[in-house]
Amino acid sequence: MPSIADEIASRRTFAIISHPDAGKTTLTEKLLLYTGSIQTAGSVKGKSSSKHAVSDWMDIEKQRGISVTSSVLQFTYNGCCINILDTPGHQDFSEDTYRTLMAADAAVMVIDGAKGVEAQTVKLFRVCALRGIPIFTFVNKLDHEIRDPFDLIEEIENVLGISTYPMNWPIGCGQNFRGVFDRASRHVLAFEGDGRANATKKVGEIEASLGDAALDELIGEENHRALMDDIELLDGAADEFDLDAVRSGKLSPVFFGSALTNFGVEPFLKDFLRLAPAPSPHIDAVSGDEVDPTADDFSGFVFKIQANMDKNHRDRIAFLRICSGKFERGMEAFHVQGDRKLKLATGTAMMADDRAIVDEAYAGDIVGLFDPGIFSIGDTLCTGKRHVRFAGIPTFAPEHFARISQVDTLKRKQFVKGMEELAQEGAVQIFREIGAGMESVIVGVVGVLQFEVLEQRLKSEYRVEVRRQPLAYSDIRWIANDPEELDVQKLNLTRDTLRVEDMRGNKLLLFTSPWNIDWATEHNPALRLSEFGNVT
Ligand code: G4P
Repeated sequence: MPSIADEIASRRTFAIISHPDAGKTTLTEKLLLYTGSIQTAGSVKGKSSSKHAVSDWMDIEKQRGISVTSSVLQFTYNGCCINILDTPGHQDFSEDTYRTLMAADAAVMVIDGAKGVEAQTVKLFRVCALRGIPIFTFVNKLDHEIRDPFDLIEEIENVLGISTYPMNWPIGCGQNFRGVFDRASRHVLAFEGDGRANATKKVGEIEASLGDAALDELIGEENHRALMDDIELLDGAADEFDLDAVRSGKLSPVFFGSALTNFGVEPFLKDFLRLAPAPSPHIDAVSGDEVDPTADDFSGFVFKIQANMDKNHRDRIAFLRICSGKFERGMEAFHVQGDRKLKLATGTAMMADDRAIVDEAYAGDIVGLFDPGIFSIGDTLCTGKRHVRFAGIPTFAPEHFARISQVDTLKRKQFVKGMEELAQEGAVQIFREIGAGMESVIVGVVGVLQFEVLEQRLKSEYRVEVRRQPLAYSDIRWIANDPEELDVQKLNLTRDTLRVEDMRGNKLLLFTSPWNIDWATEHNPALRLSEFGNVT
């Protein structure tokens, strides 16, 4: 029987981040294929097929064929227990995508080789960078024409501000794609494109030194010459490989491959599992001490709350990232924010396409706890004499805003209740114009689809119809000054900047463009603005 420490050491918990269409779903599918978790591609997300993805819990997702909610997939491979935190890749992603990153120990960033670093990648990257977690890059779609690999590397470094270390190097691309050169083993992994998208068979690998005649035959003389030049340049110019720099999120190992043709996925997985960290210690915000993941006492924090996953039960599920020790179904734990002991009666894990009941789980794992409405995002659960409390989850800046008001003014009570409860759950953020009442509220969301989710849930759960008036604001900033230090009403702002407050009374400013933010800081030297809201 493996010990608790062995169980925890075998865990790798990570998120895959990308701009929509870069290939995150395809890569996830291929990773699952290696483990035998799914038999057919298309099970993760049935964008163009009738089969729906494992995470398609809500009707709205089914109608549109996209994933709105993030799910967790757990599987084992080569003695590792892998938890993939799936994050919605569609343009209409939500704050949950960001929150999920708070529960990951590492991230895999998928980049479309033809497009490079795209907008959503930048946003997700910045949240990972905020936490200093290791970030691995997978440059995808090598079977298509891609941009010059040196350009791509340079773009990653310049746009994202992270150093890179190419682990392998592509040999041609598109029609001329021949494989990759593995820099550590100095082997060439040859590509045998047979169009079998689900293939898990190993493609040809030859041990050949650069310059060998055998390589001329395998990849063609011209490719061979170009490869030799590239490798000489890389070996001379690129950063040294430094595992500490990888682990602290300063150096991103870069892999080239093609998820669709399943090329380079397995070598990537192997290297990733070797280099990615096992669950690392989290800090107890009360004492400032690190909480050892292998400690006897169990602890964890809620990073996401999901309502209505199961129509028949209308329950809420609080997703808990276990930070230390072992979880057992039915165990008692102390809910720090609620100041009382609870029986953790139901543990569920998201596994393939059903919710399996979890009997035990370890640091690094995610469990879904039945939530009768007692948990909030950021709450800590723990056992043992000393109560730990993990730092909360920051509030991420919404990018879309609308004024929401009820159609039937007699339903004011339900409207206020619904808005407050949904905001508390973290589905949307609500703001009030300073000095105004609750007749209408300003709602901010990270992805526009959240507006529809909000309207649908207000209607079905609170029986309230609402009117939505889109607002032209695009940027929000929290005012970081102490309230005594600064009178918000006296700030010198452009006319289209709005002063608002959130549910906790924090003051914020809504801007119609980044230019207005600069204007505000230039004309109010004492003003300190923050992109992330107070930690709960
Ligand atoms: P996402 O989750 O990041 O949004 O991307 P997804 O995996 O859904 O991939 C987006 C599109 O890119 C899909 O095509 C997919 O087949 C394709 N793709 C993914 N990896 C590769 C690759 O390595 N090479 C090539 N050539 N294409 C790749 P689609 O036609 O838009 O979607 P579908 O109809 O196949 O689902």
